[in-house]
Amino acid sequence: MRKLRIVARAPSNIALIKYMGKSDSSKNLPDNPSLSMTLNSLCTVADVERIEKSGDHWLPETPRFRPTDLPSDRMWVSPDLSSSGREKLLKHVERVREAVPAIYEKFGIVLDQEAWRGAGLHLRTANTFPASSGIASSASSFAAVTLAVAASFALDEVSWNRVWGEQPELKRALAQLSRRGSGSSCRSFEGPWVYWEGESSWIPSGIQLPEMAHFVILISTQPKQVSSSEAHLRIKTSPLWERRVERVRMRSNQLLSAMRTSDLRKLAQLAWTETWEMHSLFHTASEPFTYWEPGTVEALQYFSSWMGQASPPIVTLDAGPNVHVMVDRNDQKLWLSRLKEQFRDFQILEDGQGLGAKIEEWNTNGVG
Ligand code: PMV
Repeated sequence: MRKLRIVARAPSNIALIKYMGKSDSSKNLPDNPSLSMTLNSLCTVADVERIEKSGDHWLPETPRFRPTDLPSDRMWVSPDLSSSGREKLLKHVERVREAVPAIYEKFGIVLDQEAWRGAGLHLRTANTFPASSGIASSASSFAAVTLAVAASFALDEVSWNRVWGEQPELKRALAQLSRRGSGSSCRSFEGPWVYWEGESSWIPSGIQLPEMAHFVILISTQPKQVSSSEAHLRIKTSPLWERRVERVRMRSNQLLSAMRTSDLRKLAQLAWTETWEMHSLFHTASEPFTYWEPGTVEALQYFSSWMGQASPPIVTLDAGPNVHVMVDRNDQKLWLSRLKEQFRDFQILEDGQGLGAKIEEWNTNGVG
């Protein structure tokens, strides 16, 4: 069997219109469209190595490959996967393996039959941020693993690279597959802005936004008490769930038109409302739950006074306590010092918009 080791990297993404509520849990189909910005250095690296023996394994080791463009203060942590987390990941590896022959045939990529039938895979992953804390680690992890595993059965790098470079539909097919493992991961394959509705995700046309900088005010790195899978179910018990899909559709359209006219103020207001709406669903579910910490409330109070002003930052929260802030890249330095001054007790992570998942290394010696 030919040796092969693939290292793929996928960024996290931050939604301005949230995926919260599934219309079909078995396929991770969303109740409503969502829209996100793809990040850059807040990412997962997945290192997948073919081995002679059958059977796939996730190893609690950090990949030896480390991207060279990460900021120096960035963490590099192998996630501490629970046994159910491992099971979910390995089930997904199996799903990708099963889907590969049809995808390869559709795009004219040559399958390494021997490896596809007989090789096991060793997976090592690392995140540049703490898992489960409201920076979507499942999005970046499932996207990176999907890409690395899918490429692991190619006979040669050249045909894979040609299709990857020339046919964006390959990314979209892998995004659909990745969605089965973690819904929001489908938005991590492209960038900088991705719209997801039903089975498909794509880059919306006509966006006229400046390049964006992104910060996370790291309020807590503790794993969350309520998983996002549980949140997707529980929000439907909230009285505010009624007509949520209708409201969010209208908000998505308003957001898209603000993005097409480069109306950052409108964008900030819509993202703010959407954040509060998602967290209000959490707070009014039966049983109610919250991801907020005292630091989250402090940040929300601070930013609420910005929302009425001429140039507010875009502020949002995922299903976690940490606060995401997006500003025009030209104002990055100004905002970094402002945030450091205002939130002295918390670390500020700095990132920007990105272009999505990619293969970092294609190693036919199999040595990492
Ligand atoms: O992909 P999941 O099932 O982990 O859902 C995450 C959903 C949110 O991050 C809370 C919102 C979003 O659209 O990313």
